Amino acid sequence: MGKMWSGRFSESASSLLDRFNASLNFDKKLYEYDIKGSLAHAKMLHTQGILNDQEYQDIVRGMEQVLREIESGDFVFDISDEDIHMAIEKRLTEIIGDAGKKLHTARSRNDQVALDFRLYVQAHNEIIRRLLLELIGTIVDVAEKNRETMLPGMTHLQHAQPINFGYHMMAYASMLKRDYERFESSFRRNNLSPIGCAALAGTPHPIDRKMTAKELGFDAPTLNCLDTVSDRDFALEMLFNIATMMMHISRLSEELILWSSSEFGFVTLSDAYSTGSSIMPQKKNPDVPELLRGKTGRTYGNLVALLTVMKGLPLAYNKDMQEDKEGTFDSVETAEISLTILKEVIATMTINREKMEEACKIGHLSATDLADYLVEKCGIPFREAHFITGRAVALAEQKGVDLSELGYEDLHQIDERIGPDVTEYLSIRHSMNARRSEGGTSTETTKAQIETMQQWLKKQKEE
Ligand code: ARG
Repeated sequence: MGKMWSGRFSESASSLLDRFNASLNFDKKLYEYDIKGSLAHAKMLHTQGILNDQEYQDIVRGMEQVLREIESGDFVFDISDEDIHMAIEKRLTEIIGDAGKKLHTARSRNDQVALDFRLYVQAHNEIIRRLLLELIGTIVDVAEKNRETMLPGMTHLQHAQPINFGYHMMAYASMLKRDYERFESSFRRNNLSPIGCAALAGTPHPIDRKMTAKELGFDAPTLNCLDTVSDRDFALEMLFNIATMMMHISRLSEELILWSSSEFGFVTLSDAYSTGSSIMPQKKNPDVPELLRGKTGRTYGNLVALLTVMKGLPLAYNKDMQEDKEGTFDSVETAEISLTILKEVIATMTINREKMEEACKIGHLSATDLADYLVEKCGIPFREAHFITGRAVALAEQKGVDLSELGYEDLHQIDERIGPDVTEYLSIRHSMNARRSEGGTSTETTKAQIETMQQWLKKQKEE
């Protein structure tokens, strides 16, 4: 059998062309959306009197068989059919005869592929959002148990001020919440139906796009057909949202890798999510976070690739756009497995509280607190307080101890305005709990953040 579009051609297509031109090998992933879209289109054609009862029933019955054949593995994918749209339509026509040939009335592959791909992106947007909520929930659980577990907060990867581990985890929960909201906003903006736009200009047939939109779960049909068949913003947004989310996942992964090193020892990743070395028997490697960090790169690549494909295209559909799918599938699959495995890694890791608290004794973490004490309790201007604190740090260094381990006598010698109440200010826990401003690290304010996040999670799950 010749190509569906072979009417105006006199020579048959070369097999090299088939291999180069066909998208079937990858767009077969869209089969369920293609069938769903065709059934909605057929229903509308029938309601509008374009298909008669028999034709419509044949199409429904035929499509049910096509779906069964694909799902059972009996369907023969033939690359010379070019893409999933023509493969399904050809098989439908083999099963039901002439009615199959009427299905393509008032549509084109241009609006068909725009529909299938958008349905795919919207469906996976929902899956990714569900996985994000689960990951955030797991992170919040860890945060809740560790509001009092202190570790050195860092800037420039240098010890800076003491914080608690729950607070550190809540920073990631906050990033992932923004990711969730970004996916949600893309979903809303793009929940419009492309079907019925036909090739580029609409159709003379008396179709009802509002009906197909409703049938397929869209809010409305798109406004302009020329834009609709040229538009891949919905996929670009998905790629950007995934790239940004993976950047957050990668940063958390980087910390997990550092924290699980013997130098830090802050966490121990579960054996179930670590791997061994083929030569060094003692090793336990954090392969999962390393791969999460590594896979982030290709999600950036997929975004830049599609942006580049789109940048020079005249309206409307151009075959370049067939390049939209593989990168998007790859990013979506990467995102889904990454969210799933990261959640497990976090749920099963051991938090080494003593190691974290031990590390708080390095780096004079309460230096800012001493300066604050001098300002608040002794009325010393901040610049001078900064200088006096510097001298106290130098003394601690000289004695080989942490600033928090200096006694009142030591400090009183440096500046006689310093009173005995200073030791309380130098304690690491006091330092952490002093930061009670909204969004700060104290155990109390961390608790407030956790509660706000839990309420938000509950609200999303109810919707
Ligand atoms: N396989 C094509 C794609 O993925 C489907 C649309 C083809 N349309 C066309 N006019 N050649 O983009």
